[in-house]
Amino acid sequence: MNPMPSRSSDCIEFEPARLRGLEARFEAQKIAFGPVVFQCVRTAWKSGLLAQIELADQAGATIAELSTSCSLSAYAISVVLETALSAGTVKRTTGRYTLTRVGDNILHDTLTQINIDYIHDVCYAGLFFLEASLREEKPLGLKALGDWPTIYEGLSALPEPARTSWFNFDHHYSDSAFASTLLPVFANKPRRLMDIGANTGKWSVQCLRHDPDLRITLLDLPIQLARAEATLQHAGVLERAALYPIDVLDFSAPFPHSMDAVWMSQFLTCFSIDAIGHIFRRSAACLEDGGSVWVLDTFWDRQKYDIASYCLINTSPYFTAMASGNSKMYESTAIIACAESNGLRLVEIVDDLGICHSLLRFVRSDSRRI
Ligand SMILES: C[S@@+](CC[C@H](N)C(=O)[O-])C[C@H]1O[C@@H](n2cnc3c(N)ncnc32)[C@H](O)[C@@H]1O
Repeated sequence: MNPMPSRSSDCIEFEPARLRGLEARFEAQKIAFGPVVFQCVRTAWKSGLLAQIELADQAGATIAELSTSCSLSAYAISVVLETALSAGTVKRTTGRYTLTRVGDNILHDTLTQINIDYIHDVCYAGLFFLEASLREEKPLGLKALGDWPTIYEGLSALPEPARTSWFNFDHHYSDSAFASTLLPVFANKPRRLMDIGANTGKWSVQCLRHDPDLRITLLDLPIQLARAEATLQHAGVLERAALYPIDVLDFSAPFPHSMDAVWMSQFLTCFSIDAIGHIFRRSAACLEDGGSVWVLDTFWDRQKYDIASYCLINTSPYFTAMASGNSKMYESTAIIACAESNGLRLVEIVDDLGICHSLLRFVRSDSRRI
């Protein structure tokens, strides 16, 4: 196990080094026109333009050639491709467009495509209300998708394509880490495990298959648990699972007791730091002595690569405008401090699981065993 490396530093910056005046001004324009670039490059991808340009290979393709096999007019193609050109997605040599490495990522990189779909289908329209959402700490942009107090009540009923893009985004990140969490979580052979925010039940199924003696209690909002039940049934493991519908924001609602392990994956990001304190306190209360609370999450201060921190930091506004109004992608230091003020003690951290996850293990602060 990793002896808790600290990756945070006092000076954090993302600015490209040594930008001169005009370069810095150009970078600022990229922010000003960011939404325009996003929409054009996405259209270039979705309309098949980028794929057609790739087919033309080194020779490249003219707008006239592209317009013969594209649903967009020559005018529309010129608008989209000139913006794509300005964004370094395509290159133009004597009127012929070829793909750049950035364009190649738009066309082939799964992470990039999942992020584009999530931003466009789930977040884009609602982000218009970000400033008001920040002021009121309410997800005022969510009305672009439906009429729920938070996105979690509406997850299973989201309109398409938002629903598919939300689940692709969520699962792409969490699935990548799930397999490598079994070894640490089962090292102490837990008999009773609780999966809070179990969602579709994917992780619970993996655990029940991993250990035939394990019993799991799944906690989530009622609408989500209906979906989890179907997953468990389909996997043939439902008889060792208990479903416990709960709104964890009802702070008076107790958690089931006598647990050897409490599991929360990509869950705490749904809540304010105050609510997380209540969740930790109830988790600590339901643990057997020597039991563990496991938190699998994406902390932007524990990333090896800036690209990961960049994606995580820029997911926080979704939580404000669309999801809850008062949660975010936290730094690990905030979550650890919150757990330690609410009856838990950190005993280990495992970093670099899946794409960008860390696994934190806590025991009760009065526990004699770790
Ligand atoms: C981002 S998903 C994470 C799902 C899963 N653990 C994973 O790693 O993919 C958050 C889950 O928390 C649940 N959730 C959100 N707010 C909740 C609440 N107030 N009470 C109970 N569950 C809630 C959602 O329904 C959803 O299943």
